[in-house]
Formats: sequence, structure tokens, C-alpha cells
Amino acid sequence: MIARKTMVAGNWKMNGSLALVEQLADAINNVKSSEIDIVLFPPFPLVSAMIASGVTTGTQTVSENTPGAFTGEVDAQLIKELGAQYVLVGHSERRSIYHESNDTVAAKFARAQQVGLTPILCVGESETEQANGETEQVVAAQLDAVIDKLGVAALKDSVIAYEPVWAIGTGKTASPEQAQHVHKFIRDKIAKLNSDLAQGLTILYGGSVNEKNSELLFAQTDIDGGLIGGASLKADSFTAICNSAKGTV
Ligand code: 13P
Repeated sequence: MIARKTMVAGNWKMNGSLALVEQLADAINNVKSSEIDIVLFPPFPLVSAMIASGVTTGTQTVSENTPGAFTGEVDAQLIKELGAQYVLVGHSERRSIYHESNDTVAAKFARAQQVGLTPILCVGESETEQANGETEQVVAAQLDAVIDKLGVAALKDSVIAYEPVWAIGTGKTASPEQAQHVHKFIRDKIAKLNSDLAQGLTILYGGSVNEKNSELLFAQTDIDGGLIGGASLKADSFTAICNSAKGTV
């Protein structure tokens, strides 16, 4: 059995402030442990402050392009140069609000890896897709967009986050069994192409994770941590979630 790294990641979305960076950094620096990777994804203007505070940092998106005339976009190389290590690609809010297609997500994934950033590929079905029984089909297509473009080997230096859209910010968490089922589907799908890679791949669950439900979710065989939204803005909740991930390796 290949050991997998456990990760607790906090996606601040368009929230936060310099004061909150300080607050969360203090709290995280107290619960840091070699057992888990703790990563925060603040908005771009807070990235440097977060890095300076000693917290492992990622960005919420990245341009798929190399430097040039792309007003408002941020280049991967610059993110790397600042000292960030991760980048979220394909978050459902980027897909739905900013119309990012599977192809665009795959291009962002490629660009992040090109400069040595680790992409966290977010996948997940909408409420309607779930109701129609299309979860596996949707998640498979989102994964295939990256595998077809870059080959399965590209997933080695990445993390996958399963975030059912109906569970994001709604308080409707997937049950541990529901989430485990999809995580296993993801791992089995990748294992058909490369078994060792699939066994070593960190797969996070996201969607209304809080300090009350995290322990049971993280205890599932194929759930290797969480991608936390709202609860990552509160030091007490986020550190409690981090602590619940310890010992689940
Ligand atoms: P919530 O934890 O607020 O549901 O958000 C999840 C999420 O979208 C993390 O990327």
C-alpha cells in the first residue's frame, strides 16, 4: 500500500483581508504537523502576505497563457516566483460563472505544471446532474479532459478535489459514503491507466466541510483530506478541521 499525503486546503474565494491572513497564519502555525499539508488559497492581493506569514500558499486560478496582452490575468511563472506552490484549476465557480470549459481547465493545469506549480484539479457534478444519475459521467469527462491532453502521468504531480456543486456553500454535505463512492470511482478510473499513480494520488473532498463532519469524511479510505471554503475563514473551525485530519493517514 502506497502512503498518501493528507491535505487540508482552505479556499478563501473573494474573501479575506490582511488582518485575517495574520489571524489564520498564527492559528495554522500552531497546528502544523508533518502528518498533513495545510495550504491556503487567498485572493491574489493577499498571496505575498500569506507566504511571508509562513503558510503554504496557492492561488485560486491562473492564466493558461504565457505573458502577454491579457489584461487582468495572472501568469503562472509570477505566482511561482512569489513563492506559491499550488493552484486551483477548474473550481466549479470558475466553470459556471466564468465559463471555463474542460479544455481551458486542462490548459491551466498544463501551464501550472510547466512552471513547477502543483495544480489541484477540481471536479464535481451539479445538482441536476446528480439527480439524473450523471455524477460518474461528468466527473470522468472532467478528468479525461486533462488525461487526454497531457497523459495520465501528468496526474502524478497534482491533487484532485471532488466538490459536488450541490454541496458547495449550501450546508448540504455529501455523506461520507456518498463521497467515498465517488472518490473510489476516481481512483479506480485512474488505476486502470496507472495503478501506482492512482494509489499515491491525494483526493480531497470539498463542499460544506466543517469541524463537525470532517472527521467522518476524512476517515473514508479514499478521502485524503478536504478543500474547505467558508470554514477556512474562521481560525477555530479551520484548525479543528486540520486537527481532525491528523492520524487518518
Ligand atoms: P464550502 O466549504 O463553503 O462549501 O466551499 C467549498 C469550496 O468551494 C471549496 O473550494
